Amino acid sequence: MADKKKMSVEDILAACRTENSSGDGAKSEESAKPAESEAPSSETPSAAAPAKKAAEMSVEEMLAAARGGKGAAKAEKKPAAKPEAAAAPAKKAAAMSVEEMLAAARAGTGAGKKEKKAAAKPKAAAKPAAAKKGAPKKAGAAGPIDTQSILAAARTSAKAGPMSKAEAAAKGSPTAAKGSPAAKKKSAPAMPKKPAYAKAAPKKSKANEASRRGFIAAVSGCIGFFVGASMNVGFTALGLTGLIGSLGVARFFFPNILIEPPTKFKAGFPAELSTGQVETKYKAQFGVWIVRAAVEGQLQIYALSTVCTHLGCTPNWLEAEQKFKCPCHGSGFYKDGVNFEGPAPRPLERYAISVAADGQLEIDKSRTFQDEMGQWSDPACYVVPV
Ligand code: FES
Repeated sequence: MADKKKMSVEDILAACRTENSSGDGAKSEESAKPAESEAPSSETPSAAAPAKKAAEMSVEEMLAAARGGKGAAKAEKKPAAKPEAAAAPAKKAAAMSVEEMLAAARAGTGAGKKEKKAAAKPKAAAKPAAAKKGAPKKAGAAGPIDTQSILAAARTSAKAGPMSKAEAAAKGSPTAAKGSPAAKKKSAPAMPKKPAYAKAAPKKSKANEASRRGFIAAVSGCIGFFVGASMNVGFTALGLTGLIGSLGVARFFFPNILIEPPTKFKAGFPAELSTGQVETKYKAQFGVWIVRAAVEGQLQIYALSTVCTHLGCTPNWLEAEQKFKCPCHGSGFYKDGVNFEGPAPRPLERYAISVAADGQLEIDKSRTFQDEMGQWSDPACYVVPV
């Protein structure tokens, strides 16, 4: 018994395989011995279980014996509660394959856990602290081993239990390689080579830089010139507008004056005029005809107005017809100024005429004389030549 308790799981599995391969003869001999020694024995179930021979023990029983008899003791405590679970391990190890044994070992582990819950807790308290923290269990130790460790130990002789990241990285695990800095360095892509056109890019020479700056300066100068010229034109126009406005304001302070020709003018000597002559050279400048002719049997020199008495047009002297003819409406006037045709309602007017101190005829347009009013008889409106 003592030797069986110290056996590891691998040893138990190896023993199962060897017994399986040794034949049924030994089994029959060992199976001839019933569990008589177990039943009447007053020993504890955990002590009695290893007493079974390997041929009669199921895998679960063997694993329980390897763990220190805990599982076996629990299984014996409740045999009637789970008859199916008890019947399953009844399969002999000789007829089981390795996979079946491992499946039975897993089932036994689960059964052991369930039995642990039903059993008293002091047994769990007896578990070593290192085992609670998940420390790797040594192969062949008497304490309980989890299913993964058992399976890992069954597959290989490597250390049971989960691996750390460092161990996984050492083994070349893909999950560890992804997170490690070494893997990042390896996965970083190589820098591409510099293209040929980038290498052959021409450097900015001083001449190009100078020409570029010169071009920019020329463009800036042109823009400044046009802007300055536009501003000059604008300011000049503004100044001219202001000047014109100032002149208009200044003109406002001066009154409008109509500059007229003088009302008096001299028309030469009386002897220069022949009898029956009509002088027309003062018509355009002074609006006066000077006539030397006989009026009612008296030779006179008088000054006639050139304004038609109809609507104010200027008639013309027609020498061939010896009359004044208005071009506007056809009024006709004799040489003495009396109207005889057309719409003119009255004769032409006379201006005052006198002989100046120098002997010349002087005409004063500020004074007028009208025939219809009997003013032509006034000596102020004619001169009698000597
Ligand atoms: Fe001289 Fe009418 S204005 S005829």
